[in-house]
Formats: sequence, C-alpha cells, structure tokens
Amino acid sequence: MLRYDYAPALAFLEPHDWEAIHPRLEAAQKMLLEHTGPGHEMLGWRELLRKPDDALLEMLDATAAEIREQADVFLCLGIGGSYLGARAVIEALTPSFRHLAPTPEILFAGHHLSGSYLKALLNYLEGKSVYLNVVSKSGTTLETMLAFRVLRPWMEARFPDASRRILVTTDPAHGRLLEMARTYGYPRFAIPPNVGGRFSVLTAVGLLPIAVAGVDIRSLFYGAVETCERLSNPLDNPALNYAALRYLLYERGYALELLAVFEPRLSGIGAWWQQLFGESEGKQGKGLYPDTVQYSTDLHSLGQYVQEGRRHLIETFLMVEREPDPLLVPDTGDDLDGLAYLSGRSFQEINRIAYEGTRKAHAEGGVPVSTIWLEHLSPNALGACLYFFMHAVAISGYLLGVNPFDQPGVEAYKREMYRLLGHA
Ligand code: PA5
Repeated sequence: MLRYDYAPALAFLEPHDWEAIHPRLEAAQKMLLEHTGPGHEMLGWRELLRKPDDALLEMLDATAAEIREQADVFLCLGIGGSYLGARAVIEALTPSFRHLAPTPEILFAGHHLSGSYLKALLNYLEGKSVYLNVVSKSGTTLETMLAFRVLRPWMEARFPDASRRILVTTDPAHGRLLEMARTYGYPRFAIPPNVGGRFSVLTAVGLLPIAVAGVDIRSLFYGAVETCERLSNPLDNPALNYAALRYLLYERGYALELLAVFEPRLSGIGAWWQQLFGESEGKQGKGLYPDTVQYSTDLHSLGQYVQEGRRHLIETFLMVEREPDPLLVPDTGDDLDGLAYLSGRSFQEINRIAYEGTRKAHAEGGVPVSTIWLEHLSPNALGACLYFFMHAVAISGYLLGVNPFDQPGVEAYKREMYRLLGHA
C-alpha cells in the first residue's frame, strides 16, 4: 500500500549508524504503543483507529449527503490543524476543475486575517446556497472566530434555516464556540479532547468537509486503520525507517527537509505535513525545518539552490506508483518544436522520468534523497499516507527528545498580538 525507499540516502551515513539507532527506535516505538512517552495523553488519534466508530462515519456521511443536495458552497472556517488536513485530502482526491465536480464548492476562510479576502468572499457567496462549518477545538482562535463573527450574521440575514446550515466542530465539553452552538442550536461535532489539531484530520474536523466533497471517508479512514495496524509491527516498518533516516541526518548537521511532490494535487498534503512536522518537532532549539516544493514547477525556481546551494538539506519525494488515464503527447506531423521524440509517450511517464532525473541529480549534488511511494492516488492510499506521517512524527519527536504533541511556541505571538489589540 505504501513503501519507503531510503537506499540512496544511506550513502550519507556511516555503515554502523543504521544498526546503532535501532535500540532507540525500538524504545521510541514502545513509548508510542504503550503510552509511556511525553504527551501520551494526546494519543487519541491512534485510539480512534484502533476502535473505529462506524456509526460516526455513517452519521458524517449522512450529514454530508444532505449538504451535497442543498448547498452550492460549503464554507469551512478554521486554521492550522482545523483546516489543513481537509484541504489536503480534498485537493488530492477531487477534480482540479470545479465544473467537473457534482458536489458543492468547498471554500476555506478563517485561516488568516485578510479583510479583503473576506469581503471578496462575501461578494462571491451572494445568491448562493451556503452551508458553513466552523472548526475550532479551543473555540478562541482569533482568525477563525473573527471570520465567524462576520459570517454568522451574514448567514442569519440570508437563510431562515441558518441554525441548520451552520455546523460547529469543537471540543465536546468546553469553549466559547461550544457555548455559541448550544445557545443558537447549531448541529455539533466533537473533536476528541485527546486529539491535537494537527492530528485531527481523521476526526469530524477533516472527515465532514472531505465527505461533503464526495470522497469516500470510509475508505480513507480504513486506509489509516490498516496502516496503524501494520506500523504497530516493529519488523515491517517504513515509518520507523523514515524517522530514523531523518534523525540520523539531523544529527549529522542537516537542518532542513524538503517534501517534494511531482503532482500538483499533492501540494496540500505537503502543507499539512509541514504543519505536522514543524509544530511537533520544532521546540527546545531542535528539529529539521520542514519545507515543501512542487516539482517540476519549483525546479525552475528553487532547483538551483537544491542542486548547488548550502548543503544542509535532505529531500523526501512523495510519489504515486500508478496513475490512471494517461495523457499522450500528440504527433503533430512535424518537429518544429523539437519534441517529436516524445510523441506517443504519456505525461505520466515523462513526469516519472523527471522525478528519476531530479533524484539522481540532487543525490549527486550532495542531497540525501528518499522516496515515499503511494500505490494509487485513492482515499485508501491517502489514509495510509496520513497515518504514516503521524506515526513517523511521533517516533521522530521521541528520538529528538521532545514532546511531539504540544505546541508551546505558538502562544508567544498570540500573547503579543492580544496585548497590542488591547485584549483584557
Ligand atoms: O495543531 C494545532 O493544535 C493547531 O494548528 C491548531 O489546530 C490551530 O491553532 C487551530 O486551533 P483551534 O482548533 O483551537 O482553533
């Protein structure tokens, strides 16, 4: 279902490094499986896969089906872990051009403070049938709650049934958003208290918007369930290998990891991965800085740096093995563009060769490269991919000696911002 090829990067390690890390890897895996590591109280993202709640999946599917019938637009308000996973999966699994999708348009807001974006959004929404899902575990995040403060009266002024069209996803027991949902009678979905934002894509946070977009959430969820089982086995474990490789290279002075995709639809997975690794590892002065690139586009911008700039980066490719519906390069009957030699070959094949060439060139340029292979771009394979990264980041955090499940650093800017805004 998912495989990890790290052989080319071993050349950047000493032969004994790999064996030497094994006892620490096993200890990290044990801490995760036995709930004995830092932040073990936030392992709900594994628990919900170990005991799947099929009734919840059915209920989310039924709600989504109703929304799909009624809505032109499904507007998701949320930031960080409260929107990145949904956006990533929807982008990866739904058509690139909207008119091909028999589902509502899924839009996102509440993930920044741009007033002009919100104004333009309100103009765009005028005259459309809108459903709104506000997602905030804390119920206090400024970006999301400020957007909701604008959207809520807008919805109420236009839709007599607004209290049915506004759906709230939040903590089941605390917070202002919960209070608002109770006060106004909005339908509610719970974010389990023991699941952190960046680990919440397989809860209602991600699954409701993903289901509204027409993606098979059961297949997505069970892809993660199967991978959770597989990665709980220490003998066959690509997530442990990924965590070990990036840690060993980090110890050798590498400072930055690029997650590179060759398929634009996977860019959102890159953004989700970036938050997952950035917030989980970047603390106590530690951690690889996670960045994402979309090739071949970025080979024409960052490619020069990756090939010949400072040698402090590692590169992980996220690739899809099998892609359906090949697009063939046409035979135009002449060779004025010099591309006749590619006639009859598929874009998929050319893109694959671009990956192979890039991987070889970057490795020769001094970049440790490895590749995560998804079998297909399907809900099941994507569920496997999401779980793979969540498992790997937990192991990776334990190897680094940090709590992978907290994010104390994000409070600092909030304190300063609220002080400047005059918040009491
Ligand atoms: O991963 C995290 O915990 C964060 O990115 C949060 O998801 C983000 O800050 C939004 O928080 P909330 O859901 O409380 O609005």
